[in-house]
Amino acid sequence: MPDILIISEGPVRKIRINRPEKKNALTLAMYESMAAAIEDSATEANVRCLLISGTHDVFCAGNDLNDFVAMARGGALGAPIVRFLHALACCEKPLVAAVSGAAVGVGTTMLLHCDQVIASDTATLLTPFVSLGLLPEAGSSLLAPRLMGHARAFSLLVMGKSLSAEEAKAAGIVTAVVPAAELDAQSLAVAREIAALPPESVASARRLMRGSVEEIVARIDEEVDAFKTRLASPEAQKALAAFLTRKR
Ligand code: COA
Repeated sequence: MPDILIISEGPVRKIRINRPEKKNALTLAMYESMAAAIEDSATEANVRCLLISGTHDVFCAGNDLNDFVAMARGGALGAPIVRFLHALACCEKPLVAAVSGAAVGVGTTMLLHCDQVIASDTATLLTPFVSLGLLPEAGSSLLAPRLMGHARAFSLLVMGKSLSAEEAKAAGIVTAVVPAAELDAQSLAVAREIAALPPESVASARRLMRGSVEEIVARIDEEVDAFKTRLASPEAQKALAAFLTRKR
């Protein structure tokens, strides 16, 4: 089965991250598939809402750390990652996320681009960027402080403090917390509810509410530049090697 499943449910395009054996960590090919699914929706009038989900036990363990090691050697962040982040920021269709289990790194920061985030009571949000010698990405250095204030964003993005589903709701990232068994049905219901609204009016309201897309894209690019430097740093090399060679 593909690592990214694209499923149409009427006007809802589901993008399901499906690499459970690696906790849904994202490879470059997975970023490409997700970016294409988002970009293509721009010209498909029948797609009224996108719904991003993971598998039952885990939403997404972030970037594949083996890929980070390879990128650190190559001195560049993979183009598919940047393509995906730009696609998220520039997406004109409403985005809903359904989060169950761990949402790590970009698994959390992608949620900051979503219009509704439905979390199961098993969800945990975590961004261990700094303990990996890295820094926050996906526009999160701009979006998270805006959403929850500097101090709470600092706890999440710099200190690596995790958020339970309820804490993420209190912080404004998550819209609703539901029992795990109801996540699929409830998130699809929310996506369908949005899809049933007048699409041009939704798009206009959303554009006004999100503010300058150019500012978000510029911040993503600034973060990408700084991220490349961090990836090549001894701090990051040591932390990545420690994860990949850890004994369990
Ligand atoms: N990149 C590559 N492989 C990953 C991965 C990642 N981001 N996250 C998990 N995996 C792999 C593990 O190496 C392991 O592979 P193996 O079975 O071949 O040894 C498999 O997925 C299962 O992971 P494991 O750690 O045993 O699962 P867990 O349930 O104990 O913990 C997590 C789940 C998500 C908490 C843990 O895997 C984790 O912390 N992952 C790293 C997250 C991270 O730092 N992401 C980058 C943020 S910038």
